[in-house]
Amino acid sequence: MQTDFSRLPDRRGTGSLKWEKYRDKDILPMWVADMDFTSPPPVIEALKEVSSRGLFGYTVPTSLDTEAVVAYMSRRYQWQIQPEWIVWMPGLVPALNTAARAYGADDEAVLTFTPVYPPFLTAPGFQGKRVQKVPLVIDGNRWTIDLEAAAAAVTKSTRMLYLCNPHNPVGRVFDRQELSALYGFCLQNNLLIISDEIHCDLILDENCQHQVTAAWSPEIAARTITLMAPSKTYNIPGLSCSFVIISDAQLRQQFQRASRGMITEINIFGYAGCRAALNEGEEWRQALLQTLRENYRLVYDTFCREMPDLGMLPMEATYLAWLNANPLGLSNPVAHFEEFGIGLSDGTPFGFPGWLRLNFGCPSHQLRLGLERLLAGYRAAKSI
Ligand SMILES: Cc1ncc(COP(=O)(O)O)c(C=O)c1O
Repeated sequence: MQTDFSRLPDRRGTGSLKWEKYRDKDILPMWVADMDFTSPPPVIEALKEVSSRGLFGYTVPTSLDTEAVVAYMSRRYQWQIQPEWIVWMPGLVPALNTAARAYGADDEAVLTFTPVYPPFLTAPGFQGKRVQKVPLVIDGNRWTIDLEAAAAAVTKSTRMLYLCNPHNPVGRVFDRQELSALYGFCLQNNLLIISDEIHCDLILDENCQHQVTAAWSPEIAARTITLMAPSKTYNIPGLSCSFVIISDAQLRQQFQRASRGMITEINIFGYAGCRAALNEGEEWRQALLQTLRENYRLVYDTFCREMPDLGMLPMEATYLAWLNANPLGLSNPVAHFEEFGIGLSDGTPFGFPGWLRLNFGCPSHQLRLGLERLLAGYRAAKSI
């Protein structure tokens, strides 16, 4: 069985969060980070096998699940982890919240670089912490970290850095030079690093390599909480299976204590899907990357040629393009583009009002239609 990446699965009426938003409307959903491709065949087979057994009791991770994660980290990142470092979670949003609860005193602060995946900005506040937002800056034609601004923002009460790398939504894979400076800053300011690397297996630019934060040095590993999941890469977010890797025993215990009674167990389908994706998903991932790279080219070329003032910059990872609609002077850019039949994510919860995020994880014909509609909306806004 091969996945046909040119076929659009019919997701209407399936309870898909992405598609239900525009139920019965002619609006193409290109918002939430969930792709319109079927999942890897080995995942589908593994779920069928679980289903055929008919046993759906409470489930704990088996050594096969743990070994799949350990082997994957070694194979892909030459990162040697121990099975006991893994804390399974039903999602990384709960993990971001658990970390905010686990570490530091009330009213201490979390520093993060904006724009960023919205739960980075909400989780600290939900757990009684403050957020210190430091905007990423554009340097030439790439987004980068402004460490001078970070140094100006950091205070004695800053306890953690929430780092997103590869970065959602700007699509950067931070390079060794940027990371070296950033990690130096974290050591200097005694910050824990909550490193969300969920997009690490979606690298578009073949010249880039993902650097696992905790694999940087023993010093950095000792202050890092790594968040990962097969959900984005293998398109299984609805299976609710993620994991957090913490090598420091004390930090791990604090994290586990903070989640007690709050976090549900992962279900049997989640473990089975995760294991199959990590162990047998590579061929599918390579085919996916080929499709996403072609889609990215189309998106980038279209914006550069037809809509240059939306300021799309080259991307290195993810299937999420970040666009500046401010030059269009619209009071509600999302609503404007919905009128032209395309549903995008609003930049406001990412900390950047007036910006938009476009999900291009879909078959190319669907993407072309989306881009045509976007262009129609753009031209209308500019009265051309
Ligand atoms: C950076 C980042 N972290 C976490 C998540 C959500 O992860 P989960 O579905 O495991 O809660 C997303 C989803 O888009 C994301 O982009």
